[in-house]
Amino acid sequence: MKIFLETYGCQMNVSDSEIVCSVLAAAGHEIAPALEEAEVVLINTCAIRENAYRKIYGRLDRLRPHRLRMIKEKGHFVVGLLGCMAQNLKKDMFKHPVVNLVVGPDNYRALPDLIAKLAARDQIKQTEIDADLSEYETYQGIDPKRFDGVNAWVTIMRGCDNFCTFCVVPYTRGRERSRSLSDVLAEVHRLVAQGFSQVTLLGQNVNSYQAEGLSFADLIVAVADVPGVSRVRFTSPHPKDFPDALLEAIANHPNICKHIHLPLQSGSDRVLELMSRTYTGAEFLALAQKIRRSIPNVSISTDIIVGFPTETESDHQKTLILLKTVGFESAYIFKYSERKGTIASKKFPDDVSSALKTSRIVALFDTQREIALEKNRTKIGSTLNVMLEGESDKRPGFQVGKTEGNMTVIFPQTPHPLGTIIPIVVTDATSATLLGKSQSLSMPVLEMF
Ligand code: SAH
Ligand code: SF4
Ligand code: F3S
Repeated sequence: MKIFLETYGCQMNVSDSEIVCSVLAAAGHEIAPALEEAEVVLINTCAIRENAYRKIYGRLDRLRPHRLRMIKEKGHFVVGLLGCMAQNLKKDMFKHPVVNLVVGPDNYRALPDLIAKLAARDQIKQTEIDADLSEYETYQGIDPKRFDGVNAWVTIMRGCDNFCTFCVVPYTRGRERSRSLSDVLAEVHRLVAQGFSQVTLLGQNVNSYQAEGLSFADLIVAVADVPGVSRVRFTSPHPKDFPDALLEAIANHPNICKHIHLPLQSGSDRVLELMSRTYTGAEFLALAQKIRRSIPNVSISTDIIVGFPTETESDHQKTLILLKTVGFESAYIFKYSERKGTIASKKFPDDVSSALKTSRIVALFDTQREIALEKNRTKIGSTLNVMLEGESDKRPGFQVGKTEGNMTVIFPQTPHPLGTIIPIVVTDATSATLLGKSQSLSMPVLEMF
């Protein structure tokens, strides 16, 4: 059958969709490039905030006329929900009139059978579900189907045992489990052979990686040592357990990017405790300072939640101060969104008004924009190693790439193939982007004229 797959949510979901494509292809299905050609639509979903749900319900509503047309023309049409929302809402998803298949993140091996069952019956009325979390599933033996690109996502562990009180992930992805080093390394070798220049190692909490007595630091070093890997990235470590061995690995391996995504969530010790983050603002700051001391020119990005239950103006000010003190290169800032089933939803009413959440998020955004602009402007005139990732959508004739610190750089067309690391001289900067020109081209071009 022709199957169209759409992906929402985090990189972990993108990586899972590649596993889904591989499972489907092995069963003889074809991945359709457009919805119009497909008999089955699979939507890989996210549950992290309420607007993730809203997006999916909107998408399902928009599928209604297309589904009716397909049923009229072909007699069947399957709409399958995969991923975190499917796992979280399970058979409640069937309340939406278009959904007839629900499959959780640990059940993708069952997809071909479930689709076959639906295909054999009158699917307009029939449903199939498999949303049982597993303690063991790591999709060992499945080679994710990659699409063209520079970066390959490699999931090294699944699940999360941290139970931060606001977070739905431990419920949608189950318990932590790590892939074996040999499985990960075999995948990285295949990726190099396929021409990928960069590998990004994924886990909800990479420092909990543990397999055959090996830690995440051991794993990242082994991956960085695979010949042909130009860049290694990873996301995310939890600030509670950032070992020195990982700092040393990043500092000492030229191809491990000097970028660390370190989610702060709040600068208030009282709120951090209610969130069960198990560190204080002072401990976070000490870790950030140690990271900056150990790794010259490191970029640190973060996640922050505003309006967690009971958050006062004084808590918010503490977050603002810590944001300025650490001086993050970038920050993702979210309004607290109550998730059913989480500890916070049971213990603390969502009592910060929407207007207050908005004013606090704006205050943090504005401050972060100033910090980022100031930091980016200091880079003007310097030469940075930029990995060429593609053409610019916004500026014709320009290409885009990423610095080691994960900054986006735009520069005039170069003759290099994608994935090449090019020295780029920074000529201008905004809070989000650097503008530059290829060092290798600038001189000869000027001389020629
Ligand atoms: N495992 C990752 C986080 C994954 S979720 C980590 O701990 O680093 C990505 C981010 O979404 C979190 O860092 C948090 O800032 C945000 N988030 C999670 N649950 C949320 C909620 N209920 N409301 C608002 N933001 C949330
Ligand atoms: Fe969620 Fe916390 Fe786990 Fe991250 S570490 S996925 S925020 S429970
Ligand atoms: Fe990712 Fe969303 Fe699930 S952030 S882990 S897809 S809830």
